[in-house]
Amino acid sequence: MYVSTKEILNKASKEFYAVPAFNINNLEFLMKIIEGAVEKNAPVIIETSEGAIKYAGNGDIYRGARLFVKMVREFAETVNIPIALHLDHGKHMEFIAAAIRAGYSSVMIDASHEPFKENLKITKEVVKWAHASGISVEAELGQLAGIEDNVSAEKNVLIDPEEAKIFVEETGVDFLAPAIGTSHGAFKFKGEAKLDFERLKRVKELTGIPLVLHGASSVPEKYVKLAEEFEANLGGAKGVPAEEIKKCVKLGINKVNTDTDLRIAFVAGLRKHLKENPKEFDPRKYFKEGMNFVKEVVMDRLEFLGAAGKA
Ligand code: G3H
Ligand code: 13P
Ligand code: ZN
Repeated sequence: MYVSTKEILNKASKEFYAVPAFNINNLEFLMKIIEGAVEKNAPVIIETSEGAIKYAGNGDIYRGARLFVKMVREFAETVNIPIALHLDHGKHMEFIAAAIRAGYSSVMIDASHEPFKENLKITKEVVKWAHASGISVEAELGQLAGIEDNVSAEKNVLIDPEEAKIFVEETGVDFLAPAIGTSHGAFKFKGEAKLDFERLKRVKELTGIPLVLHGASSVPEKYVKLAEEFEANLGGAKGVPAEEIKKCVKLGINKVNTDTDLRIAFVAGLRKHLKENPKEFDPRKYFKEGMNFVKEVVMDRLEFLGAAGKA
């Protein structure tokens, strides 16, 4: 079933589990995410960045957004689990408009790089606009270290819980992504992972809405090692351990954004296959191992986040 993101996340918030939101750019990842979620009888959120929409539409963002909606709906309407499609890190109004018009289930307005007041003003505007079309909205407060789809933050600026309360009340936003110490990509921490659990707890107490963890990939050693065995250079890669994410779920995280783990698992399988089968040139064959690793990551996340069996 193609459902609203709000329906999926409100249930998760009430029952204290989290639903993974997986980023896709193509058909192959989508196929395996759906397959894994069906096998786990779990709800799942598919998300696409602005870059993914541009890529799929070969530059035409309306076309890209329509293509994703058509693909996701086709899968969703033929299986018996809740599936939603979300715009990840919407920073430009034309992408938000394209997603709303194409029929996405929800959009993210990411004005987290703006000062608080400006973020609030922009988010409020998008909420008004999206809600008029029955579409729910995610926003972000604080900044993640590293690169967020073209916008870089020099250092972590963590969320202020008191500001979060005002922000949620004044904007009417449906879900909030609090910056609590994670970052995007495969190189999140130099030493041990450090997340601000107290801050997260306070944000949930003061807002009461479903919360979103960005930069939540675990960067599993198994796939990093395998990729490196086949000549990848991923030295220093480090993610958020599953146990830390589980703590976040207990404190109120209900949507766990995952992109990097799928990319690393896929590239490990692709490298292995190409090296071991130098005569292979059929993409349906050389994508296969990578796709199967993508499915493994999906099923593992659905399980440890508590979404398995919640369809
Ligand atoms: O948070 C960003 C996502 O990982 C998407 O990244 O802009 O490379 O598609 P992208
Ligand atoms: P990762 O890079 O940790 O997978 O985070 C993805 C993300 O936050 C997408 O919005
Ligand atoms: Zn993100």
